[in-house]
Amino acid sequence: MKRVFLIVLDSFGIGAEPDADRFGDVGTNTLRSISRSDHFRIDNLKKAGLCDIEGVDFLSGFAGHYGAVGRLREASAGKDTTIGHWEIAGLISPSPMPTYPHGFPDDVIAAFSASVGRGVLCNLPYSGTKVIEEYGEEHMKTGKLIVYTSADSVFQIAAHEDIVPVEELYDICRKARSILKGRHAVGRVIARPFKGGPGGFYRTENRRDFSLEPTGTTLLDELKKAGRDVISVGKIRDIFASRGVTEAVVTHNNTEGMAAALELQKRDFNGLCFVNLVDFDMLYGHRNDADGYAKAIAAFDEWLPGFVSGMREGDALIITADHGCDPGDISTDHTREYVPMIAVGKSIKPVNLGTRSTFADVGATVGEMLGVKCDISGKSFYMEITSENKVYADLMNRAEAARNNSYSPYSGFSVGAALLCSDGKIYEGCNIENASFSPTICAERTAIFKAVSEGEREFEAIAISGGRHGEISDTCSPCGVCRQVMTEFCGAGFKIVLRTENGIKILTLKELMPLSFTKGEL
Ligand code: THU
Repeated sequence: MKRVFLIVLDSFGIGAEPDADRFGDVGTNTLRSISRSDHFRIDNLKKAGLCDIEGVDFLSGFAGHYGAVGRLREASAGKDTTIGHWEIAGLISPSPMPTYPHGFPDDVIAAFSASVGRGVLCNLPYSGTKVIEEYGEEHMKTGKLIVYTSADSVFQIAAHEDIVPVEELYDICRKARSILKGRHAVGRVIARPFKGGPGGFYRTENRRDFSLEPTGTTLLDELKKAGRDVISVGKIRDIFASRGVTEAVVTHNNTEGMAAALELQKRDFNGLCFVNLVDFDMLYGHRNDADGYAKAIAAFDEWLPGFVSGMREGDALIITADHGCDPGDISTDHTREYVPMIAVGKSIKPVNLGTRSTFADVGATVGEMLGVKCDISGKSFYMEITSENKVYADLMNRAEAARNNSYSPYSGFSVGAALLCSDGKIYEGCNIENASFSPTICAERTAIFKAVSEGEREFEAIAISGGRHGEISDTCSPCGVCRQVMTEFCGAGFKIVLRTENGIKILTLKELMPLSFTKGEL
């Protein structure tokens, strides 16, 4: 059982990205702004390595921090929550989600109107409370829908619950969702029901978001497909329009989100627990409240050691963010910033990864940690941060790559092997099957025979990675025939590098073949 807890501190940016000028965000830095507050306390984050991340030079580092750290740049063209989370999950968006500073174009409104059989009022960026104050009465008289937007990529529909019953409004939103595709694929369609009368209109709690489905494969899809648990805490489920999520815990704020993560830590599951802590952004970043933000970070900082001490052998915790929202900036919008990456776990070592080019590296890493081959963007840094021996970790990477050549249509089980010779050369092999099953050869023997036929006679180690297609099994250890072949060519100290639940395990040939039959017996 392997568990990854991936926590997104919503909007916790650590400094403007090189292209911040294109977003009007030059010089922004969420962390630096909140660090000036009297309420700012991050002793535990510091011990994990936050202040040793590249560019966080305005705060003093911590010699001997225990986490692996890195700074991540956003490869997507955007700075919003959805695009940021999708990128963390391995889906890069080359164009931003559309926004409508002058309202939606006529053809969109006409199609929407025709589809729902009602007229439209407003169609401009508006404050949610003002819009019902100003258009509520006319809406009640005519039954026309109040459509408005904001600086975000949203299509919002306000309607009085007595005029348009909530279920009907949700249906209207679904229709809007099906129209808002392609060029007009807004991030969210939002139902905004309200009640009351002129002068006293108020919004009800029946708001509902209809998110855009991810436009490509994400880490969540791949994990679910491979049978892993994908547990959403907070708004993760919404951000991914439920796709790839196997279970969701509803939370409303940071306190509930952190409590939910602690509860889940006590439970057995095999996969990902993906948490979004929303208060940083929603309550403080957007309101330019640096003190509030600093207090919220201090609360997270206080929560951290308890969580870390409850981590099990195979667990990993990754802390990151989806964009910035500098409360010290004049605007209240998100800011185009680098985000931090801190990884913590019993077999994660305190390396500094410098700056990486995409948030997607997190998704690729989580996939590898969980032993699932994911067809997503990003480059895994797992092998760089595990405390396992680098030579063997690299050898395992080569074995994993060799698996791609496996010819295993009959068993559906692909295996790759990488054999390290004493002269430093590495020979790879994969399993090759046959319609008449018995001529099948294992990956290990392919690699060994390849090397022997090239004249190699001295061997150090072999790494083996295998599993059902698309999966990496924890325990793909060599079959008896391969062990016998190893006995022929390799000494008792020859090392067999296997994947286990908690990373890499190294066994000697003697351990695998204690009473072996050798040429000495003849
Ligand atoms: N296989 C290997 O390549 N190596 C092992 O250590 C175990 C089994 C292959 C043989 C066959 O193609 C498939 O896995 C299922 O047995």
